[in-house]
Amino acid sequence: MRFDLKSYLTRQKKIVDEALERFLPPVDGIEGKVVEAARYSLFAGGKRIRPILCIAAHNAVRGNSNALMPVACAIEMIHTYSLIHDDLPAMDNDDYRRGKLTNHKVFGEAVAILAGDLLLTYAFELIASAGDAEPDARTILKVVRVIAEASGFRGMIGGQVIDIEYEGKEADLATIQYMHTKKTGALLTASVKIGALLGGANGFELERFEKYGHHFGLAFQITDDLLDITGNFHEMGKTPGSDVEKDKNTYPRLLGVEQSQEAAREHVRQAVESIRPFGDAAMPLIAIAEYLLERRR
Ligand code: IPE
Ligand code: IPE
Ligand code: MG
Ligand code: MG
Ligand code: MG
Repeated sequence: MRFDLKSYLTRQKKIVDEALERFLPPVDGIEGKVVEAARYSLFAGGKRIRPILCIAAHNAVRGNSNALMPVACAIEMIHTYSLIHDDLPAMDNDDYRRGKLTNHKVFGEAVAILAGDLLLTYAFELIASAGDAEPDARTILKVVRVIAEASGFRGMIGGQVIDIEYEGKEADLATIQYMHTKKTGALLTASVKIGALLGGANGFELERFEKYGHHFGLAFQITDDLLDITGNFHEMGKTPGSDVEKDKNTYPRLLGVEQSQEAAREHVRQAVESIRPFGDAAMPLIAIAEYLLERRR
């Protein structure tokens, strides 16, 4: 069966964008500035990979939960908050994101920090509200736990700290892999896992999705590191060369471009392998993983 990934992604992205628009509060009142800033980054044109993975995993187990869209959108809000903070002068100090000036460049650092905080806290408000539409409240609690762990010090925050701590120092491959698994892999893994959880996946299925997420996450950050060298602003919407400038520990810095491409290929192969048991129902997840090797943004 031939799968048209491009139109699948366009369709899903539209669904996610419309849901985000619905869920996010309007710009209102004196404090509206921070909502305006959050909306600025959220609607700047992200790929929506995480919510799309969440939906795809849900469909792979033939789920039908009313809480799916709020939960998928919450993940995108947390991801967007992580980008706003990642770009701050105290962190990666980047001027462009998603083809536009970074949040702090437009709204100032204070509002950018608060817009990130807003997106993080609002994400959990949204998930909790989704509990009203989910008959099994325990499932929502599990989802909250998975997302909190993946975003917190055991996951993304932990990875970001390692990233910053190792700036200008040379990390070995195991450390870089550990860092990538946390800073990027954790949220991507959580995306598929919560989609599957809401779809009523069993233990075996969840394990498969976790493995997929682990390898997908590594392939995703390795290709991100590669694009920082081989990509361009026009396609990526962010400035290439940022990692070299900050002396970041990346796959290509340690292994060179070709061996990094090989590592990405191997992780995509393993990601695809781990979800074979789902057959055709996992076609979108397979195609999204394979697309990582060609992505230009
Ligand atoms: C960028 O994530 C940050 C990393 C974890 C590498 P994405 O490449 O998913 O960025 P958007 O959401 O499409 O802007
Ligand atoms: C991932 O790493 C960032 C997050 C977890 C937010 P990068 O710092 O490489 O992401 P980009 O390249 O700025 O998008
Ligand atoms: Mg960073
Ligand atoms: Mg960065
Ligand atoms: Mg990067």
